[in-house]
Parts: sequence; C-alpha cells; structure tokens
Amino acid sequence: MYYPEELVEEIRSRNDIVDVIGGYVRLKKKGSSYFGLCPFHNEKSPSFSVSGGKQMYYCFGCGEGGNVITFLMKYENYSFPEALKFLAERAGMELPEMEYTKEQKKQADEKARLLEIQKEAAGYYYRKLRSDEGRQAMGYLTGRGLSEETIHSFGLGYSGKYSDGLYRYLKKKGYPDPLLFESGLILSDEKRGPSDRFWNRVMFPIMDVNRRVVGFGGRVMGDAKPKYLNSPETKIFDKSRNLYGIQIARTSRKKGMILCEGYMDVIAMHQAGFNNAVASLGTAFTSGHASLVKRYAKEAFLIYDSDQAGIKAALRAIPILEEAGLASRVVDLSPYKDPDEFMGNLGPEAFEKRLSEADNSFLFELRILQQDYDMNDPRQKTEFHKAVAGKLLRFTESLERQNYTEAAASMLHIGVRELTRLVNSEGMRRGGTAPAPRPKSTVFKKEKDQGILQAQKLLITWLLEEPGVFRKVKELVSPGDFTEGLYEEVVRQLYEQQEEGQLQPARIISHFQQEEDQRKVAELFNTRLPEDTPKEEKEKALTEIIYKVKAHSFEKEKEQMNLADMNAMQEFIKKRQALDRLKKTPISLD
Ligand code: UTP
Ligand code: MN
Repeated sequence: MYYPEELVEEIRSRNDIVDVIGGYVRLKKKGSSYFGLCPFHNEKSPSFSVSGGKQMYYCFGCGEGGNVITFLMKYENYSFPEALKFLAERAGMELPEMEYTKEQKKQADEKARLLEIQKEAAGYYYRKLRSDEGRQAMGYLTGRGLSEETIHSFGLGYSGKYSDGLYRYLKKKGYPDPLLFESGLILSDEKRGPSDRFWNRVMFPIMDVNRRVVGFGGRVMGDAKPKYLNSPETKIFDKSRNLYGIQIARTSRKKGMILCEGYMDVIAMHQAGFNNAVASLGTAFTSGHASLVKRYAKEAFLIYDSDQAGIKAALRAIPILEEAGLASRVVDLSPYKDPDEFMGNLGPEAFEKRLSEADNSFLFELRILQQDYDMNDPRQKTEFHKAVAGKLLRFTESLERQNYTEAAASMLHIGVRELTRLVNSEGMRRGGTAPAPRPKSTVFKKEKDQGILQAQKLLITWLLEEPGVFRKVKELVSPGDFTEGLYEEVVRQLYEQQEEGQLQPARIISHFQQEEDQRKVAELFNTRLPEDTPKEEKEKALTEIIYKVKAHSFEKEKEQMNLADMNAMQEFIKKRQALDRLKKTPISLD
C-alpha cells in the first residue's frame, strides 16, 4: 500500500460514489441502487449499477465492478495514487507526500517509463510509415487491401531502413540504455553496440484494454524469415493475458468474440466490419486469454486455419474456453486458409453466413473424431457411435445431455432413441447409472470445485445481505474454511468489520491491490439473495450452504491429517459429528 489504509479510507469515504460516477454516467434510481449505461462496454439497456449503501458499482453485463477508487482507475486510466490524488482534491483534502517505499517507487516508475517508451516507439513507427522512407511499406499494406482508415485505427507503422533508427531517436529523448534494453525494443550487443529489434518491417502495435501500447509485432515485406518478429515479454507485456485487437473488440456491439490466429486476420476482420475479432498472436490460447474474453463476451467463435495445425489449435482451445465458462463455436472457412484470405475472396456477407452456421464446439469435436473411423466398415462405424455415446456422457445435466444427443443423432443420421439407448448402456458399462466422469479428470474436478466456490461465494452474500445471520455463521464457520484464498481474506475482513459494528464492503475492495482481485471482490459483493423467500426455506438454504462449505473444509483437513495422530483424529471426528447434527437441525433465523 502506498498510503496508510486509514488515509485511503478517509479519502474514499469523503467521496460519495453516486456523486462521483454521476459525473460520468447518467444514473437513474431504481430500488435501493442507481442504474445507467455501462461505460466499460457498449450496451443499449442499463445494467451498470451503483449502490450508495455499499459504495460500490457493478455491471451485470460485463462484470466490471469496484469502489470509487477503482472506478476512476478504470475510467480515467489513473494509477492508484493518481485516483487518490484526484479524490483528495475533490474532497478538499491535502494529500501528504507519497509514502512509497523506495522499491515500490522504483517499480511504479519503471513501468510508467516502459509504457512511455512503447508509446514513443509507436509514434516513431507511425510517422516513418507516412514518410518518404515508408513509401514501400505503405504500398505493402495498401497492396494487401488495407484502407487508410484501417491502417490508422490500428496505429500501423514502419520501423525504418536503419538498424538503429529507433535507438538513436529514443536516446535523444534521454532514455538510459538499461531501460531501453528492458523495453524489448533495443538489443544489446557487446561488439556492435545497441541496435533496434525491429527494422525494415511493417509494425503492428499491441495494445492493452486501455489502449496503452505494450509491445509490437513486425512483419517482413517479402518472404524472408522469420515472417513476424514480436516483442519479448516485459514487465508490461504478458503474452498469456493480452489479445491483439482487444482495445477495439471490447467495445464492439457484436455478439460474442471472434478468436483468430494472427495480426492480419484481426485487421481483415475489423475492416470487413467484424470489430469483435481478436488474436492470441502465435502463442497458444491460455486460460488468461479466456478470462479476458469472458469479461466482454459470453460466447467465442473459434476461427482456425483449416489445416491440421489449425484444427489442433481449436481442439485445444475448446476445453480452456469451457472451463472459463464460455460457450464456443467453430467457424469453418474452407477452402480458405484464414479470415484474411476468406474476406479477400468471399467477403463479409459470406462470412456472416459461416458465423451463423458455425458448429457448436461439441459437434465439431465429433466431426473431427469421425475422421479416425472408416464409416463404410460396420464394425468401425459402431465403434464410432459408441465413442460418441461416451462423449455425450460428459453432460451430467439430463436435459442438456438429451439436447446434445438429439443434435448428435441428427448430425450423424441415426435415430435419437437408438443413440439415447447407446448412451445409457455406455454409462452402465463405464460405471453404473451414475454419469461417467468427463474424459479429462481435471475438467471434472474443476466442476466440483466450481460448486464449492459457488457455496463459499453464496455464504459471503448471506453475510452481506442478512447481517442478522452473522453471529450464527461466525460460530460455525471460520475464515479458514473458505478454501479460496481471496474469499478467506474477505471473510476475515467482514468478520472484523462486523465486530466493530460497521459493514463497509467498499473498504474491503481497496484492501486488495491487484485489479483482478478487486474485480472479483466487487462481483462477490454484488450477488443478491432472492427476495421474498419464506423463512423456512431460507433457513434450509443457509444450513445447506454452511454444510457444504464445512464439509469441503473437513475433506481438505482430512487430506492433510496425520492418520497416526489419535488426538487429532478424535478432534476431527467430533467436529464431523457436530456437522452432521447441523444437517439434522437447520439453523434458526429467529
Ligand atoms: P500466420 O503465418 O498465419 O500469419 O501466423 P498471418 O497472420 O496470416 O500473416 P500474413 O497474412 O502471412 O501476413 C499467424 C500468427 O502467428 C504469429 C503472428 O502473430 C501471426 O500473426 N507468427 C507467425 C509469429 O509470431 N512469427 C512468425 O514467424 C509467424
Ligand atoms: Mn494471412
């Protein structure tokens, strides 16, 4: 923390969130909250809520959320100290000189200067492209069908003819060598001295969600190798969390997000009107990418190069998206290799059609699986159908499984009843009537974990929405029972606040320093309990949640227990019995 927590708290509490956000977003009162159009994604009906009671905001559409400080950090792109300074001034307070530790100051400064360097470089490349020296590069880009507007909106550039042009430019601006090496744009060489990483290439600046340049890709204009060079990872560039084009795609009004493979694909898509396209840029698709997509979309369209490598990439991305809670579909571009070629040959309308016909990922997986079997051989055909039935078993929810069975049957031209029967018999064969686990045990485990996390989350909602249950819950559940570290800390803070007799959820948010954590906490605090539930039902629900959370915590404890330690064992059994009693006599809310 740069400032003492009390000071942060004081500044925060002197700036009413409804007033502050009301200066940026038109808010209308609805019930106990205010609603408006979310400034962080494009929408037509308001799902952005600001609560005066909790002093927090949350968007039910895109999941952005936080307190008044995080709002300014997001909206104005302020750093934490900048946001504080703004709010202190707004409240007429004097902000004391920074209490940075030396190390913190160095880190913050370094990041800021690295960002500055990327921005300088982007400007340098941008101007070069438009200079005499950049005529060939400009010709290359327009020759590939890019319009002036597209070239401008992606900030494309040219790195110049000389291998040290950027270096000399940045030196003149006064940046020291070590920082330039750190930026990834300048290479050091003992013998020849410093030189540019990129020269004589067309340049693609890579931006983060806030439009800050964090790195570059550079393409040769001919057939030389390597075709693309990319910035290395730096303190400000994490490849597993950045997607090319996200700065534009995040505000697209289109449904879902389109995932492509490269720079030119994204650009071609945007130029054709599909400004919801992004790319993971040569690196494999990661869960970091998936959670970025999830912030702005509910569904992903996978575009793969229609070759073996592309299909493999799609098959790998599907479970990652699934785990992040994103539905996905796979778009077939054949006979074209990539979106760029597709657009050049068939155009946007044909693409729109391919999008609407895109295979559900599950059906895509089946289609690919089918290629391993000779469908003219009855034995192999049967084997294939059994494999399909096996895959259908991964849908544990019966209606969902039925829907997928129907879709698969229709795709494979076999009877729904026959396929259903096969699914059931496969299920029996693989382990009784209970649904067989998903083929990947990790996926299955994740699902169970999801259930536990959900229960822990709900219990926190209870603590916030029904302060009356606090005593009872605290008697039974300790912060350590929350196995997710973030939740554990939140509960610890909530308990403390309760003891002090004052709930201040917004305060807990600025306790966390990572933006991602702040967002998670805001989401946590914005879940509602259903209203008008009869008391008995509430009691039953709360009891069940507590039971679930405790049971899981015990399970964890048991895993770590030394089975030879009789005392510990007995202690554990006692606790376990108390838990079983809880199940029989629900908590009373009187
Ligand atoms: P592609 O070879 O499909 O290139 O690589 P592309 O995007 O279609 O580009 P053009 O149309 O040939 O100009 C897809 C992505 O893989 C990464 C880049 O991010 C590229 O956009 N890549 C590819 C590299 O990083 N280095 C390479 O040498 C090649
Ligand atoms: Mn291409």
